[in-house]
Amino acid sequence: MDNREIKKDFPILENRKITYLDSGATTQKPIQVINAIKEYYEHNNANPHRGAYSLSVEATQIYEDTRTKIAKFINARNREEIIFSKNATESLNLIAYSYGLDNLKPNDEVVLSIMEHHSNLVPWQKVCKQTESKLNYMYINSNFEISDKEIENKITDKTKIVGITHVSNVLGTINSVKKIIKLAHKKGAVVVVDASQSIQHMQIDVQDLDADFLVFSGHKMLAPLGIGVLYGKKELLNKMTPFLMGGDMIEYVYEQETTFAPLPNKFEAGTQNVEGVIGLGAAIDYIQKIGYNRIQEIEKELVSYARKELSKLDFLTLYMTPNEENHSGVISFNINGVHPHDVASILDSENVCIRSGNHCAQPLMRFLGIDSTCRASFYLYNTKEDVDNLVKALNKAYEMFKKYIIRR
Ligand code: ALA
Repeated sequence: MDNREIKKDFPILENRKITYLDSGATTQKPIQVINAIKEYYEHNNANPHRGAYSLSVEATQIYEDTRTKIAKFINARNREEIIFSKNATESLNLIAYSYGLDNLKPNDEVVLSIMEHHSNLVPWQKVCKQTESKLNYMYINSNFEISDKEIENKITDKTKIVGITHVSNVLGTINSVKKIIKLAHKKGAVVVVDASQSIQHMQIDVQDLDADFLVFSGHKMLAPLGIGVLYGKKELLNKMTPFLMGGDMIEYVYEQETTFAPLPNKFEAGTQNVEGVIGLGAAIDYIQKIGYNRIQEIEKELVSYARKELSKLDFLTLYMTPNEENHSGVISFNINGVHPHDVASILDSENVCIRSGNHCAQPLMRFLGIDSTCRASFYLYNTKEDVDNLVKALNKAYEMFKKYIIRR
């Protein structure tokens, strides 16, 4: 899996002597993305959709071409089905408020998985309270997976919306999204897929999945922070009321009434993050240049190696499925008896960057009976040496803390 050439595309990994294992929080950016943004500001910057002069028309063209590129990237039927947002969180709020509030009735049910990020959970709590709907959860088994039986038990005729993360940001479990969607559709429910932790690792085809809504953040797939995407089936988006009101999402505004612009503008109020869109376009070009086959090849080898090496450390508890083929680029673990923040700061002193905490997934933590975990997450620029550095630093942390560990 020689990916040293790929690593060289990431200036920060050359400039800082770090072992970066926090790509689940945000990925580093390749020079191609950085240059695309620079190029945009040096040659094309103007406010899209707002000027008749050539520069603004050019900016509009670049912005709209990127929408088309994203539609092709995830195989959406129409480019109008791609809405730009700030991030996956904003996309999920948009769905909850615009679709959820208008369509849920008392005693309807919303079904989520217990491994949802707060962003695909808290908005549904609010909308369910407001509409007097019920919020139910699909729980995980001892393999950290949602069983088929659990899916069949929880998605019923009362279910109107299912929210499911494609890949857990804590466990790395790849969920059976296609199966969930098929069953939900049989019961007449729509499905919201959170692809924030999957799109950087695997090819997404919204038509093949038959997802009703699918969201992701650019910054977890090599693009800048502050740009997100909402995909929605056109027939659903057309019926939904706008989420944010303001400039460019209108058709006619009268003193007391407004009519709204057609898709996609209806959901893009205010001046948009054009540099984010440009960066996202360049990130997609980069991913396509490397190819998902290569990305998967690198990551499978890496995750497999990390699973094997971390399993050798008997002072660790690992929160991962035994089924390697269901495991994407995230591994959560704890040094038994040591707080994850303490572990993370010792690792930091060894220049190893991991995330520690509840990972915005408190209900999952509570279900697992813990407060927090350490989390190492991988991407295409990581190497086996990065895993070795992690293991070395973990051994050091354990040596430092072992005399303080209270045995239970
Ligand atoms: N949602 C991001 C993570 O899991 C920030 O780290």
